[in-house]
Amino acid sequence: MCGIVGYIGNKDAKVILLQGLEKLEYRGYDSSGIFIVDGNQNGHLFKEKGRIADLKKIIEPYLFSTSGIGHTRWATHGRPSVENAHPHQSTNQRFTLVHNGVIENFQELKDTYLPEISLTSDTDTEIIVQLISHFSEEEQLTTFEAFKKTVSKLKGSYALALMDTQQPDIIYAAKNKSPLLVGKGIGFNAICSDAMAMIQETNQFIELMDGEFISLTRDEIKIETQDGTSISRETYTAEVNLDDLDLGAYPYYMAKEIDEQPAVLRKIIQAYQNDQGQFQLDTDIINSVISSDRIYIIACGTSYNAGWVGKQLLETLAHIPTEVHLSSEFGYNMPILSKKPFFIFLSQSGETADSRQVLVKIKAMEFPSLTLTNVSGSTLSREADYTLLLHAGPEIAVASTKAYTAQITVLAALSEVIAKKNGLAKESNMAHELGIVATGMESILSEKVFIEQLATHYLSTSRNAFYIGRGVDYYVAMEASLKLKEISYVQTEGFAAGELKHGTIALIEEGTPVIAIITDKDSAGHTRGNVQEVQARGAHALVITMEGLQKKGDQLVLPKVHSLLTPLVSVVPTQLLAYYTSLHRGNDVDKPRNLAKSVTVE
Ligand code: G6P
Repeated sequence: MCGIVGYIGNKDAKVILLQGLEKLEYRGYDSSGIFIVDGNQNGHLFKEKGRIADLKKIIEPYLFSTSGIGHTRWATHGRPSVENAHPHQSTNQRFTLVHNGVIENFQELKDTYLPEISLTSDTDTEIIVQLISHFSEEEQLTTFEAFKKTVSKLKGSYALALMDTQQPDIIYAAKNKSPLLVGKGIGFNAICSDAMAMIQETNQFIELMDGEFISLTRDEIKIETQDGTSISRETYTAEVNLDDLDLGAYPYYMAKEIDEQPAVLRKIIQAYQNDQGQFQLDTDIINSVISSDRIYIIACGTSYNAGWVGKQLLETLAHIPTEVHLSSEFGYNMPILSKKPFFIFLSQSGETADSRQVLVKIKAMEFPSLTLTNVSGSTLSREADYTLLLHAGPEIAVASTKAYTAQITVLAALSEVIAKKNGLAKESNMAHELGIVATGMESILSEKVFIEQLATHYLSTSRNAFYIGRGVDYYVAMEASLKLKEISYVQTEGFAAGELKHGTIALIEEGTPVIAIITDKDSAGHTRGNVQEVQARGAHALVITMEGLQKKGDQLVLPKVHSLLTPLVSVVPTQLLAYYTSLHRGNDVDKPRNLAKSVTVE
């Protein structure tokens, strides 16, 4: 959610900043901007609505710059426009700032300190830069002092980078809740929201903690606290493989990431398997889970949908009662907890602010926590007691696909290891079963041409659609509907098949697409009954079922897999249906409107 970069060094800063912003575009893409300082120490500001590609068009190509800061935006305060795009400047244009986060008390700060200032944007961010200018002038503070004083007044989340035209060879930065890293190089230093933004320049990074202040020159990185106590911290090597960021022959990252799923499953099996071909996980994690009396899964979006499948796995295999909660609800409306809860945070990015606020709260209550994430070193990973990595490789498309299946896979491994530790599921071999799933996924992926035809036939012109299922198929229906709505903009609901008749069936009209997922033999008959009911009312029904359960006329028959792992195969055609529907409607599949991949505001 908004990405920031800063660079100071030998190379042309504007090139590095733009390259970095392109890598951060997944965090927001409604407008962007850079501020750069040229060889004569003059500052230049460029801002544009739209994508980084639009920004590039307005930048003077021959302007060589030695330092600068940049931003790609997901609007929170003020609609996407050039005026609201970052960087923002103080009225005298001395100070320039980029910000990722939300300042909750911006109006109070404006009323208290800046009643006379007329603002040029509707953002919360402009207040910060105006306040720095105010403290610098009114109180004769140095830039670093004015910056620190301003930051001490802020309530909310922020990663900030500041430049002063009077000191063009320094970048100041600070953070609270929003992520920020320092990239360390030879002849340059950089800051960025995510290591991916600077991986082309360096793989050496320094993590920054909330409340820390940074001043960066070409050759020096100073980290200190508000009171000036210096902090020294080693760099770590970021393990981002540049090849993983390459689209190859694919038109969109989503298509590539859907295809990568069988390989991701095999990678997870390899990562967590012992010499006997059985899953084996950190015993501290397992001991902590088994000494609890209830698991609480906390997540948002696609990760939340994966959590429901996780509940099924944990309860069926490990017999541990499991609840699944939306982070944004749980933190502010906490249910009565069991005596010994164990928290599992599911988060592809490991940065989602809604989930983090829950982690902060349950840590204060001294409850144990585990994060399942794709990003090692991410905030939720660092702050939870334990981490299990998803090993899915960078997921770039906003619509999550391989992280969903990776989360379920790791949860299956976890459930089995807990079960065995408790003397349950003795015969189970999930590593082997997941290998069968990976092969099954490949066979579904080989049916792409047919699935594209189904997308055209059922979904390419419809305004709304339903996914229905029961039990674990209902959980997949929720994810399938999220996928379809977020990238195709077809209004879609994932519904419990049996519940449809209790109200929502009123929305079924002639031609309404209803896609039924039927992989559970016990409920298959009832779901088929529900399909008949909607067909009788004119619905255009598409049935996705599994070998052994198929009936004449079913459109898609999935290869048979372990009954607890069916979501891993049934979700794949729904991902493809969403992908092709979006593609045929002419949407930007990887960057759907109004969304961002990493949501670092609550
Ligand atoms: C955003 C993304 C979703 C994602 C959700 C949770 O809303 O657009 O695709 O599922 O955040 O993200 P996380 O990184 O915590 O899994």
